[in-house]
Amino acid sequence: MLRLAVLVSGGGTNLQAIIDGIADHTITNAELAVVISNNRNAYALKRAEASGVEALCIAPKEYPDREAFHQALLQALNQRAIDLIVLAGYLVVIPALLIRRYQNRIINIHPSLIPSFCGTGYYGLKVHEGALARGVKLTGATVHFVDEGTDTGPILLQKAVEVKADDTPQSLQQRVMEEAEWKLLPQAIDLIANGRVRVEGHHAVIEPQTNERSRQMCQEETK
Ligand code: GRF
Repeated sequence: MLRLAVLVSGGGTNLQAIIDGIADHTITNAELAVVISNNRNAYALKRAEASGVEALCIAPKEYPDREAFHQALLQALNQRAIDLIVLAGYLVVIPALLIRRYQNRIINIHPSLIPSFCGTGYYGLKVHEGALARGVKLTGATVHFVDEGTDTGPILLQKAVEVKADDTPQSLQQRVMEEAEWKLLPQAIDLIANGRVRVEGHHAVIEPQTNERSRQMCQEETK
C-alpha cells in the first residue's frame, strides 16, 4: 500500500481529485497518509479534514529560518513513512535535501504541456496568461517527477486541452483542471502505486498493464 503525502497551498481541487480517486478505486493500492500546507488558511486543509485525513500546516514564517522549516517538513514526512510525495498546487520551493531523500518519489502537476509555459514565474494563472498571450491552440497539463530544477524533472503523463477563442485565463485554467489535471494526477498515482512506472535517466517509462491488473479492473467494472 503506497503511503501518500499531498502538499498543497490553495483550494485543493487536485487534492480532492485524489481523495475521490481513492474512494472510487480509480486509484488502487494507495492511501492518503497526510496533507501538508504552507498556508494555514488553505481550503485544501479543510478538504482533508472533511475526509478524515490528517491535515498539517508547516509554514516557513513559523520557523526561525529556512533550514528549520525544511527539517520540520522532512521530519513530518519521515515520521509518517511516506512513499510518494504529491505536489498539488504547492507553491514553496522543495529543498534539495528533500529531493535527494525522496529521489524519483516526488511528483508535481503543472498546468501546461511542459516544456511550454513552465519554470520560474510560471504558476497558477500566470501559466494560462502566457498560453493566451502566445496564442497557442492547445495547452494542457503535465505530471512530472520533481528534480532540483523548476518543472524540469522526467515527464510521466500529459494531456492536451483545446484553447477557445473567447478564453480568459480563468476559463482556461478551469478547463485545464477539469479536463486534464484532475484526471492525470489520480492516473499517475495509480500507475506508481501499482508498480508500473520506472525512471530511466531523464525519462519516465510506463510499463504495460499486467493481465492480473486487467482482470482486477474488469471485476471492479462489473460490480
Ligand atoms: C492548479 O492550477 C495546479 O495546476 C497548479 O496550482 C493549482 C492548484 O489548484 N499547480 P488546487 O489547489 O489543486 O485547486
